Amino acid sequence: MSTLPSEIFLHDLHPSAADIRGDVLAGLTRRPKRLPSKYFYDARGSQLFECICELPEYYLTRAELALMRRHAPAIAAALGPRALLVEYGSGSATKTRLLLEHLADVAAYVPVEISRSALAASVAQLSRQFPLIEMLPVCADFTQPLALPEPARAPRRTVVYFPGSTIGNFEPEAAVQLLGRMRQTIGPGGAALIGVDLLKSSELIEAAYNDAAGVTAEFTLNLLQRLNRELHADFNLGAFRHRARYQPQRERIETHIISRTEQDVTVAARRFHFAAGEAMLVEISCKYSPQSFARIAARAGLRVTHVWSDPEALFSVLCLRPAGWSA
Ligand code: TRP
Repeated sequence: MSTLPSEIFLHDLHPSAADIRGDVLAGLTRRPKRLPSKYFYDARGSQLFECICELPEYYLTRAELALMRRHAPAIAAALGPRALLVEYGSGSATKTRLLLEHLADVAAYVPVEISRSALAASVAQLSRQFPLIEMLPVCADFTQPLALPEPARAPRRTVVYFPGSTIGNFEPEAAVQLLGRMRQTIGPGGAALIGVDLLKSSELIEAAYNDAAGVTAEFTLNLLQRLNRELHADFNLGAFRHRARYQPQRERIETHIISRTEQDVTVAARRFHFAAGEAMLVEISCKYSPQSFARIAARAGLRVTHVWSDPEALFSVLCLRPAGWSA
C-alpha cells in the first residue's frame, strides 16, 4: 500500500457499507438477478484489472496506449492550455501520463476513483513524475453527483477524461445521463475526452473477455469474494463460473456469473435461491462506431469535434464539446 506525499489530501467519499448493501440486495432481488460492476474494484479487483490490461487477448489497453502515444500532441493541442483535468475511474492512470506530458500548463489533476488503494498508488507515482502539477484526488463513485475540489490556480477550462471504454459499461440511457452530467461539469467552454471501444469481429471481442489464463474469470468471481467479506455472504466461489458472450444485436458483450448448481446463498442475512445454470448479469461492455457514439453524445447535448484511432482501428478516443460551442 503506498502512502501519499504529505502535501496531497485525498477527498474520501468512498461508498459506505450501507450503499454497497443496498445496491447488492436490490440487484439480487431483480429478475434476472444483477450485480453492479462498480464493486469489482476493491484492492484485489483493481490489481486483477491491471493484469487484464496486459493480457494478450485484451486488445483495448494496448490499442488505446498506442493511440495516445501517437496522437497525444494533437489531443493536447485540441484541449488547450491550463485545463483542470478531471478523470473518472482513473485506476492506475497509465494513459493519463501521456496526456499530462503533452498538455500545456495543467491547472490541476483531479482523479476520481472508487478504489482507494489504486487511487493512492497512482497519485503517489504521478506526483513524483509531475511534481509541479497540483493533484486533487477524490475517492468516490463517479456515477454519483460530486463537488469537485477547488484548484489553487484558476483553470481556463475543465476537461473530463474518461478513457478505457468505461462508458461502454453503461446502458445507452445511463451513458446519456452520465455524458449529460459531464457536460454540466465542463461548462460551455470545456471538453470531454472519451475512450470508446470500436465494433469489430465478435471473435476478437469475446476473446478479450475470456482470456486463456483465466484472469478475467478470477476478476469477475472476486466480486463474490468481496461480498463474502463485506456483506457477510457465503458464496462458494467453486459453485459459480464466469461467462462472457457477445450479443451482436445489441452490439455489446455481456458478462454473467453462472450458478453451477441449484443452491441458496446468504447475503447480508437474506437468503437468495439460485437455479442450476442461472445467470446473473455483472457487466455489459457496449461497442460503438464513431457515428453510433456521436448519436449517444448528441442526446446529451455534446458534439464530436475530433476522432482519433489506433492504426488497426480497434479503439477510438473522441473529443466532445457542448453542442453550442464554436472555436
Ligand atoms: N471497461 C472495461 C471493458 O469494458 C472493463 C472490463 C474489462 C471488464 N474486462 C472486464 C469488466 C471483464 C468486467 C469483466 O472492457
